[in-house]
Amino acid sequence: MSEKRKKEHVEVHLKEKVQADYNYWNDIRLIHQSLPEINLNEVDTTIEIFGKELAAPIIISAITGGYKKAEQINRNLAKAASEVGVGLGVGSQRAGIENKNLEKTYSVIREYDVPLVIANLGVPQFIAQKDGKVFTIEDAEHAMKMIDADLLAIHLNYLQEVVQPEGNTNAHGCLAAIRRIALRLPVIAKETGAGISKEMALKLKKSGVKGIDVGGLGGTSFAAVEYYRAKMNDDERRERLGKTFWSWGIPTPVSVIQADVGLPIIATGGIRSGLDVARAVSIGASAAGIAGQLVKAANESADAVIKELTMILDELRAAMFLTSSPSISKLKKQKVIVTGRTRDWIEQV
Ligand SMILES: Cc1cc2nc3c(=O)[nH]c(=O)nc-3n(C[C@H](O)[C@H](O)[C@H](O)COP(=O)(O)O)c2cc1C
Repeated sequence: MSEKRKKEHVEVHLKEKVQADYNYWNDIRLIHQSLPEINLNEVDTTIEIFGKELAAPIIISAITGGYKKAEQINRNLAKAASEVGVGLGVGSQRAGIENKNLEKTYSVIREYDVPLVIANLGVPQFIAQKDGKVFTIEDAEHAMKMIDADLLAIHLNYLQEVVQPEGNTNAHGCLAAIRRIALRLPVIAKETGAGISKEMALKLKKSGVKGIDVGGLGGTSFAAVEYYRAKMNDDERRERLGKTFWSWGIPTPVSVIQADVGLPIIATGGIRSGLDVARAVSIGASAAGIAGQLVKAANESADAVIKELTMILDELRAAMFLTSSPSISKLKKQKVIVTGRTRDWIEQV
């Protein structure tokens, strides 16, 4: 079942428009400096995060794994991540834990020298649901070993669970589950498109996570993805839920600011360009996560992913040059102007 679901997620993403109704990154404005007093070729985009050096503050976010074609997609992403020097997360490894034959669709990434590798399992898998196995700490360890991961992202996806058929909607004990795993393994908490509030960020920090991927509103909407899947299956009730909650959540830039509780923050959700990466860094993110913008290229070839990432890097360098920021640490200190809906959120939250 989870194999079919993962396949449909990519297929729906390739075929339909599944973005939230508003991209909040356009509300963040960097201030142009007409005399940069640095040379473009001096701009240094490298960072250190979770003890690893990346060529730029970019992590390819969890996308897929667990069905035949996913092996090629993960190979394309891993080849590109190693050549460009950015981080890489795989999609939920539930299918690989439940069925050994599917491990290769994730472990293929071990063939490439990716500077930061992130395993992925969902928090609902660690608590009792209507059916299915409750994952253990050994399963979490297994997921990390499967891909030689540096970190384990535990994804928080209750928006998706509430919309999808047979969703895992039991949520008592999620935080305790994260705490148990974080005691033994290097864990980051990762939302999947609905953002992380300040209260949640504080709780997650107390539970021992090493970082927070805010996975906010503004890019891929899982309510939208599930809307299309429900439509395909003539499930009118789920279709209605998906439509109503299409743009539910905390906008990514708002969540980056709210979730700043002293841990590295990954700004995922709606990042389309290197300018968005620069915006994310300038409001406090340690790195930006990109999923949706890379799906088409990942489905095509490693070269297509390298091309897209190269253009994103060009844009990041241009934004740094034009704000007179020779380094990422300098870019972090640049003042930004916040406009539109994002400003409304920040003023009231
Ligand atoms: C096709 C697809 C599949 C995804 N599968 C997962 C997943 O298995 N685990 C997870 O944590 N996030 C998953 N995500 C969520 C992304 O990692 C990311 O948080 C989200 O798409 C927002 O980023 P974006 O706006 O750049 O797409 C998936 C996203 C896409 C587009």
